[in-house]
Amino acid sequence: MGRIRSGLRSLLRRKDPDPSRDAVTRIPVHLAVIMDGNGRWAKQRSLPRKAGHRAGAENLRRLVDACARAGVRYLTVFAFSTENWNRSADEVASLMDLFVEFFERFDPELADAGVRVRFCGDLDALPQRILEVIRTSERTSRGRNGMQLVVAFNYGSRRELAHAAREIARDVAEGRLRPDEVDEGTLSGHLYLPDVPDPDLLIRPSGEYRLSNFLLWQAAYSELWFSDVLWPDFSERDLQEAFASYSKRNRRFGGAES
Ligand code: IPE
Ligand code: IPE
Ligand code: MG
Repeated sequence: MGRIRSGLRSLLRRKDPDPSRDAVTRIPVHLAVIMDGNGRWAKQRSLPRKAGHRAGAENLRRLVDACARAGVRYLTVFAFSTENWNRSADEVASLMDLFVEFFERFDPELADAGVRVRFCGDLDALPQRILEVIRTSERTSRGRNGMQLVVAFNYGSRRELAHAAREIARDVAEGRLRPDEVDEGTLSGHLYLPDVPDPDLLIRPSGEYRLSNFLLWQAAYSELWFSDVLWPDFSERDLQEAFASYSKRNRRFGGAES
């Protein structure tokens, strides 16, 4: 009888939702972040927009540190879009300067944390001095085996897809591929960083509810998290909140509820 009762108890326990389950935070393997809201952050303080970008870059340092500690394997950040050239020459110049400064000043920190740095975007169209920083950061960090920080710079998803289509068309035209062989895998294989898995979680702060041409293909099944906090103020606590929400999501990928 005792055995039956204890067997029954363990059966019930298994059916009961585990009360500690909510406290378990799943960490996304790949987190993508649209670093938006720098301009409004500066405006709220009557500062020039470039002060907002500087504060945003400082916050990226904090985010990298927090994500590396949390166990994120890939962190992709949207730093400059193919459409951001439409801003004033002064603002674009300050963003380029900040890019150079960021990698020169913070590479020792990234090295300490074992962070490998990679870039995605229409890189060949960037000014030479930016390309040099990109090549140097990629080269010096190649051997690091901690988190991969992917910086999307002069990045636009439509441009990336057009680039992939062009490469595939070339393979077909030169006889390396038949048109009926082109499938989803072919396209994925021609993205800027084909070895990087799709993002599990995509965060957009600053109260905007759009992707703004970021990872349109890769985010097909990403979980989305929007926040009203402006990027320079987006804290580790906000990140934990996003992770907590992500942990409760039921990712079905088109399948049925399990
Ligand atoms: C994001 O902040 C940085 C870049 C797009 C380069 P914004 O500069 O877009 O800031 P808001 O959206 O004007 O506040
Ligand atoms: C997206 O922000 C690009 C980056 C954060 C680098 P934007 O500020 O350019 O996007 P929109 O114009 O509000 O859609
Ligand atoms: Mg913006």
